[in-house]
Amino acid sequence: MHDPKVTVVGAGFVGATTAQRLVEKELADVVLIDIVDGLPQGKALDMMQSAPVEGFGAAILGTNDYADTKDSDVVVITAGLARKPGMSRDDLLFKNAEIVSGIVEQCVRYSPDAILILVTNPLDVMTYLTWKKSGFKPERVFGMAGELDSARYAYFGSHELQCVPRDVEAVVLGGHGDQMVPVPQWTKVKGRPITELLSAAKIEEINQRTRDGGAEIVKLLKTGSAFYAPSSSVVRMVRSVLKNHHEVIPSCVYLTGQYGIRDVYCGVPAKLGRFGVMEIIEVELNEEQKRALQISAEQVRENCAKLKL
Ligand code: NAI
Ligand code: 2OP
Repeated sequence: MHDPKVTVVGAGFVGATTAQRLVEKELADVVLIDIVDGLPQGKALDMMQSAPVEGFGAAILGTNDYADTKDSDVVVITAGLARKPGMSRDDLLFKNAEIVSGIVEQCVRYSPDAILILVTNPLDVMTYLTWKKSGFKPERVFGMAGELDSARYAYFGSHELQCVPRDVEAVVLGGHGDQMVPVPQWTKVKGRPITELLSAAKIEEINQRTRDGGAEIVKLLKTGSAFYAPSSSVVRMVRSVLKNHHEVIPSCVYLTGQYGIRDVYCGVPAKLGRFGVMEIIEVELNEEQKRALQISAEQVRENCAKLKL
């Protein structure tokens, strides 16, 4: 048995914070890799210099060489571009598809047994692309978004209900976009659905704030997008995999007929364990939510088709 090894591709805001959380929690030794010379090395060295103070024993290596990622148990891909002024969503789609394709090729070459977790946007399409390019079974390729969207929903709910955020267990389904589907009847505070605790108008308000959750942060930051909650979310997924916890975590997974949807990646609750997606959970939805989930999945499918894979 070797110590778990996690590679984080992209040493930007999400990637570096993910690496930091992983080593501080001592979940694995981490390789942080980026295309920019010096960036992962500098951040890794800085993090290692915090080890005597923080007291963690895990190690982090910064590199530009994929040979250092050899035999990773999990690879988290956060590399890519953010949308710049004048760039359409499609421009971003094609550019990030090119970046992610190159990364997947390298990661698969050096870590043929790894679990691949996508973060790069547009998330659902990049996850599908990674599955296709990797040649891996779909169970070993999935994406992070639902956990983040659910965390935002839980936080907004806790704020309204004046309770501690960890007491709220939230469910948000669908693609990581404007069409995501918050599910209030499955969003519970110590077992009580928020439909019994908040008015319909208040629930619709937090549903919409959740759909706009990423944009709200971008507007405040002015440059860049969220990274604290995204890194927390991906680390929870990595932990469930490495520890084989089978935690139920909303994840972007390959659907084979669940919720009436097939052959597309979309966000639904899934048990994550040592072999990746161990089970997909089907929660009961009302007719409107079922339709909304299917519309969201169709939007992902249309974008995947643009890549002509
Ligand atoms: P960032 O710009 O801070 O970091 C991106 C990093 O990728 C940069 O360091 C860049 O040098 C690196 N990179 C670019 N091309 C590369 C290549 N070919 N190989 C290796 N590294 C490469 O961006 P940030 O904030 O870390 O976000 C990263 C991605 O994650 C974005 O696509 C963002 O939209 C997405 N994101 C997704 C979320 C989700 O819920 N799925 C949540 C938050 C961010
Ligand atoms: C978010 O939701 C940018 O997808 C990212 O914050």
